[in-house]
Amino acid sequence: MKLRLLIVAVVLFSSVSYAQTVPAVHGTTTAAPTASGPDWWKHAVLYEIYPRSFQDSNGDGVGDLNGITARLGYLEHLGVDAVWISPMYPSPQVDFGYDISNYEAVDPQYGTLADFDRLVASGREHHIRIILDMVLNHTSDKHPWFAEAASSRTNPKHDWYCWSDGVPADAPGVTDYQKRFVQDGPNGKVVPPNNWVSLFGGSAWEWVPALHQFYYHKFYKQQPDLDWRNPEVEKAMFAAMRFWMDRGVAGFRLDAIPTLFEDPQMRNEPVARAGVNAQGDPILNDIYTNMLPGVHDVLRRMRAMADTYSASSYPNTRVLIGETYLPNTAALLPWYGTPAHPELQLPMDMLVGFHAEGGVSGANAILNANHFRDTLNAAETEIGSHQPLLVFDNHDNPRSWNRFGDGVHNLAIAKIIASMLLTARATPLMYYGEEIGMVTSTPTRREDVKDPIGITGWPKEKGRDGERTPMQWDASNRQAGFSSDAHTWLPVPPDYTRVNVASESADPDSLLNWYENLIRLRREIPSLRDGGMKILDCHNAAVVCYVRKSSNNSAAAVIALNMSAASQTAAIDLSAEGLTAHDATTLLRDGPAVSGRQHLASLPLAPFASWIGSVSSTSPGAKTNGAPRGN
Ligand code: GLC
Repeated sequence: MKLRLLIVAVVLFSSVSYAQTVPAVHGTTTAAPTASGPDWWKHAVLYEIYPRSFQDSNGDGVGDLNGITARLGYLEHLGVDAVWISPMYPSPQVDFGYDISNYEAVDPQYGTLADFDRLVASGREHHIRIILDMVLNHTSDKHPWFAEAASSRTNPKHDWYCWSDGVPADAPGVTDYQKRFVQDGPNGKVVPPNNWVSLFGGSAWEWVPALHQFYYHKFYKQQPDLDWRNPEVEKAMFAAMRFWMDRGVAGFRLDAIPTLFEDPQMRNEPVARAGVNAQGDPILNDIYTNMLPGVHDVLRRMRAMADTYSASSYPNTRVLIGETYLPNTAALLPWYGTPAHPELQLPMDMLVGFHAEGGVSGANAILNANHFRDTLNAAETEIGSHQPLLVFDNHDNPRSWNRFGDGVHNLAIAKIIASMLLTARATPLMYYGEEIGMVTSTPTRREDVKDPIGITGWPKEKGRDGERTPMQWDASNRQAGFSSDAHTWLPVPPDYTRVNVASESADPDSLLNWYENLIRLRREIPSLRDGGMKILDCHNAAVVCYVRKSSNNSAAAVIALNMSAASQTAAIDLSAEGLTAHDATTLLRDGPAVSGRQHLASLPLAPFASWIGSVSSTSPGAKTNGAPRGN
């Protein structure tokens, strides 16, 4: 067995040189700056890795840390500056790592702390920072803290979690929903204290018979919520964050951060609309379990703590990223904090990529120019000068390929999505496989489902397995180069023979090369890297256009994206932006889009075409200063 492990490791580590086989990107040869300095997170391309599914290095069908290390060369070549690794801590894996049983170690199936340290060190060599997922809202029910908490009402850890004795089943005001969860209390029948539902189905209250108490869980019952009103909880969690920052991590993605606090009066939540959700529960407006103000005090203290690391060496500023599904863009503003009391550098803007009602897996998006123009414009105008974080794919939602694709033009549409992600004024966050157009591969039989919400919610809610399938590297084996084990934890989708890194790197028109080109442009062109952004041609129902312009007289960049199946002509007028140019030089275009020098007043765009052009920032005839080369 040991020998087999060694052979697999050698094969994988040899793949680091893979990047050299990737063809050079057309027309871009300049040495590009990587994200550096205290504001590195503004310039960085972030990439989410679901560790179970990225690369298996020891042949057990599950991805691991050494697998990620082996693929850093690929990520560096792609242009990634930092990876966010979904939880790799010890966990019973009920929610595949989001149920943590030890915050200061690595789950043996993903490796060891020494493997982690090697990953950070190797990341430095590849100019890739490591960002960890920090789950602060809840622990696993197998965490020793919870075991203690649930052992007696007088245990010092008891108050680390949220408990209730419940209310008598016949008390006035008890809802029928509460009555579904009736229990035998010490003095008769009791029900949960209110109507709160778990986001993953059923009551949010779980009965512990030995204590005659319920505990609260926003997610699975194996994920009891911590009580953040208890200062001990903050102390322990901040210590865990320091543990990782001391090991060199560049920051955290804060899981489910808006749900840290609950209403101390435990009031019933109002019904949002009649009927039931996919799990058969009432549809509530979660005003008493989501976005309670106390979270901002915690974030201010957390930011102050993280900022104490900024003075230390690599990777200097630590970044705090929030998983912030919010009702509108303006609601993001408080999550940045104030200049005197900053909070998150990067609360995620889920409005652009997942639509307002995105939720865990209920996204139901279509490619719509008005939607994208409005939400991109809101990101520019409603959060002051803060940096937006854009994201179109993650481990909780069907892949953008399927959400936005029309079944005919999916590749061109995926290029449009990539163009928005990488040319808007924002930090882009990618998800593994997005760059090759991996599809959602939802299980077709309930018995194959791994994600518990897909088992309990079947067939209305089939869970999140579909967006978590193994990364498709090549066609070298039936596991797409992900693993040597035929039994990967989720099956490899059949399209791996065509949709994989190796084949797409050899195809100049592939999605992978499009991503590489965009990232290269973003690094090389000052206006794309740093410039402001203004939406243009605002009433065009089919085409989204915007200009990126920097203050240093360098060339501006214009982006035009045809989101329709018909040919369109964009009318771009830059005079309001102080630009006198009427023509632009094509920097990058998708397939049938126009190339060469273009007249902006009537820019023809083929169906679903993406076009990026460079515009001189000086008046015609004046000497220009290094405008980028066109094609
Ligand atoms: C976040 C994670 C999701 C997880 C949940 C509970 O939404 O992204 O995967 O199930 O939190 O931790």
